[in-house]
Amino acid sequence: MLQKTDKEVYDLIQKEEERQRDGLEMIPSENYTSAEVRECLGSILTNKYSEGYPKKRYYGGNEFIDEIEILAQNRAKKLFDVPHANVQPYSGSPANFAVYVAVCEPGDSVMGLNLPDGGHLTHGWKASATAKFFDSHPYHVKPDGHVDIDEAWKIAKEYKPKLIWAGATAYMYQYEFEKFAEIADSVGAYFATDIAHVAGLVAAGSHPSPVPYAHIVTTTTHKTLRGPRGGMIMVTEKGLAKDPDLGKKIDAAIFPGIQGGPHNHQTAAIAVALEQAMTPAFKEYGQQIVTNAKALAEALKKEGLTLVGNGTENHLILINLVPLMGPGGGALAEHALGLINITMNKNTIPAEPASPFFPSGLRLGTPTLTTRGMKEDDMGKVAHWIAAALHEIKDYHMPEEKEARPKYVKEFKEKIEGNANLMKLRQEVIAFAHDFPVEPTL
Ligand SMILES: Cc1ncc(COP(=O)(O)O)c(C=O)c1O
Repeated sequence: MLQKTDKEVYDLIQKEEERQRDGLEMIPSENYTSAEVRECLGSILTNKYSEGYPKKRYYGGNEFIDEIEILAQNRAKKLFDVPHANVQPYSGSPANFAVYVAVCEPGDSVMGLNLPDGGHLTHGWKASATAKFFDSHPYHVKPDGHVDIDEAWKIAKEYKPKLIWAGATAYMYQYEFEKFAEIADSVGAYFATDIAHVAGLVAAGSHPSPVPYAHIVTTTTHKTLRGPRGGMIMVTEKGLAKDPDLGKKIDAAIFPGIQGGPHNHQTAAIAVALEQAMTPAFKEYGQQIVTNAKALAEALKKEGLTLVGNGTENHLILINLVPLMGPGGGALAEHALGLINITMNKNTIPAEPASPFFPSGLRLGTPTLTTRGMKEDDMGKVAHWIAAALHEIKDYHMPEEKEARPKYVKEFKEKIEGNANLMKLRQEVIAFAHDFPVEPTL
């Protein structure tokens, strides 16, 4: 249909499909959804308005939408073992913002992991609304990449935050839920964990659950959980014990607090993904993500690369490029890898020696490769291609003067365009990627 009526959009979707098939998507926050999830997303459920919550809507005709939303709520409660789940957040960022709206007043002190240290924007980074409307006091990581718990204690005692976040967007260790719960409890703060990155691992039992420790758990549904783009906010028994109205406050913060009508096609897709996440196959998938990440980390080290934390405990790896190419090489490395069809993102490293825009690290992960059915034996090949591309460009060093960097990157791109060694690697990656479907096989 689209092919006939809007060829421009159709062709671009085809190109993106080809890109996803012919390469290795290694951005650790991405995944390949199942056909069933995509069927929901393309369904007529998108036609319907249903502001409010099941049985309490501001629009008529919601009898089936109610059932879908209740199904999604119940599946979330069962999968994560929580008494309350809100499945309406449009995505992870509004889910997190709603937590502030639910438990804080404007100007209250809050605490989260600093963004260049691996935290998310919505955990109080200065450019985010969460730091504009709340008084943010971020904690940091130590040079080995571990959260500095002593510093977190100090900040909590000094500023008495109303809300403390644990969770991250670039953290290769298991999250320290228990330690942060102690800090939050000691100052009477609400403790929210953001498990967006590891939700699928928690569901599969390959990462500890925050539920015994946190009052509130937020997540996206589109990363390791392998659902549609979306978000959820869950309230634990511990949260209800602290504040019996917490579930109601969260619901009111989402609607009418910060959102309007829920995206019902997305809610149905979340329900489907949650059911899939309860299967033995998904358990195997979640375990394999970590097994693959550990195998990949070892293989990258064997290829001579340096990793923050010297490895990984979850799905994510952070390469420190400084020993190979000096500070600020992330953008060059990301581009070179893109040329061989391996997609990952430049990222800051602990105590970043360059800048957030020209950082010194690369962030990568295994959720998508594992979805395609790749196993630990395949990780050696992947590590080899990554290392070979990085060695090809290791003599390029980002200038120290900030003003000179954009021009340097531009010239670098022109110089390595069509580089024969990189083009050879690219052919190898494409041939390898073709052996694996772009649908979940595990
Ligand atoms: C830990 C964490 N929380 C929240 C989000 C925000 O999710 P979204 O991009 O869906 O708003 C992200 C996204 O990368 C994330 O990594």
